[in-house]
Amino acid sequence: MSERRPFDVQALRAEFPALAQEVYRKPLVYLDTAATTQKPQRVLDAYLGFLSHDNANVHRGVHALASRSTKAYEQARSTVARALGAPEARDVIFVRGTTEAVNLVAETWGRENVGPGDEILVTALEHHSNFVPWQRLAAARGARFVVVPVETDGSVSVERFTQHLTARTRLAAFAHVSNALGTVLPVAELTRAAQAVGARVFVDGAQAMSHLEPNVLALGCDFYAFSGHKVFAPPGIGALWARRELLEAMPPWQSGGEMVATVTEELSTWGPPPTRFEAGTPNFAGAVALGAALEWRFELDFVALQRHEAALLAAATARVSEIPGARILGEAPGKVSVLSFVIDGLHASDLGMILDRDGVAIRVGTHCTQPLLARFGLTATARASFALYNTLDDVERFGDALNRAVRMLRTGDP
Ligand code: ALA
Repeated sequence: MSERRPFDVQALRAEFPALAQEVYRKPLVYLDTAATTQKPQRVLDAYLGFLSHDNANVHRGVHALASRSTKAYEQARSTVARALGAPEARDVIFVRGTTEAVNLVAETWGRENVGPGDEILVTALEHHSNFVPWQRLAAARGARFVVVPVETDGSVSVERFTQHLTARTRLAAFAHVSNALGTVLPVAELTRAAQAVGARVFVDGAQAMSHLEPNVLALGCDFYAFSGHKVFAPPGIGALWARRELLEAMPPWQSGGEMVATVTEELSTWGPPPTRFEAGTPNFAGAVALGAALEWRFELDFVALQRHEAALLAAATARVSEIPGARILGEAPGKVSVLSFVIDGLHASDLGMILDRDGVAIRVGTHCTQPLLARFGLTATARASFALYNTLDDVERFGDALNRAVRMLRTGDP
């Protein structure tokens, strides 16, 4: 097991080269981690090092580089399994990211297991990636698409969720952590409730991986997916974990090289999971970098990390709350360090653009959660998302810049 390092925010921060830059001659304050995390030097070195020395296609060659590359790729699969608390590496499929994982399950397990009159349940806070593919599946299969409302504080109530389950619910799909609100969903309880009516459970772990340490066995879910770029790795790589019996029974989605057992002019047969679901040349360099990112993450003291992020969130919440006309969206107990807000009479994109000129990077817009914002009667919010590498100084820079932006927009004075 990796040693946990004492949590030292300045030392951690120094590992992220992207954070040590100026934009518009101001030191960067990066508060857009929910969109993508920055990358530590160790991951950048692993990525470039792999491509510089070991690069060869995986599972296809007999030469030395092919063997090194294949070994590194499969080692990364084991590392992903360990990061998810999954007993077997072969139950991990490399995908492009969470979106691809959802589409894979919808197009394989979904097509085979959801029929006319069945129900697919999601919550109103889902990212479009864990909403639209299930909505399309329901439409294609003549199933009912059921959306569980969120509570006013942005939480998901187990009771309300349970009320929406029926004997026809085939699948419940929900986030571990909301990208727009930071809510941590009670995944284990929701899972138990859904499985009690015979449904399978898909968990979108995209936002969880940089704040929490998920364990698929403790959560009890059937599918769990995440994206590498939201856990300190490069974009274009992610993973889907699923229960073995489900993977065994699922047909392929994409087909082509390496996912087959035999191919004749008349007929092709499929290889076993995980290769059945990894047609074509996979993003093996991305997988190696993801493995490096997770190895780096294993060294983090998550108790101290969560305490640090909670302090950042509390300080930022206080700064936003003191602005007249500010309203915070999402105040669920135990939420992670994501702060969505609106300010009366001001457009979120104006705020985002003015903050940017002060070196402060936030996200503005719908955050790919239009049904959620509609629930709150909004079309956009400003969102500051904080990570382990942010400091209280970042929070102060954000608060000062926000105050300046509000004054500027309200008075017209620069
Ligand atoms: N899902 C990412 C976000 O919330 C892109 O910003």
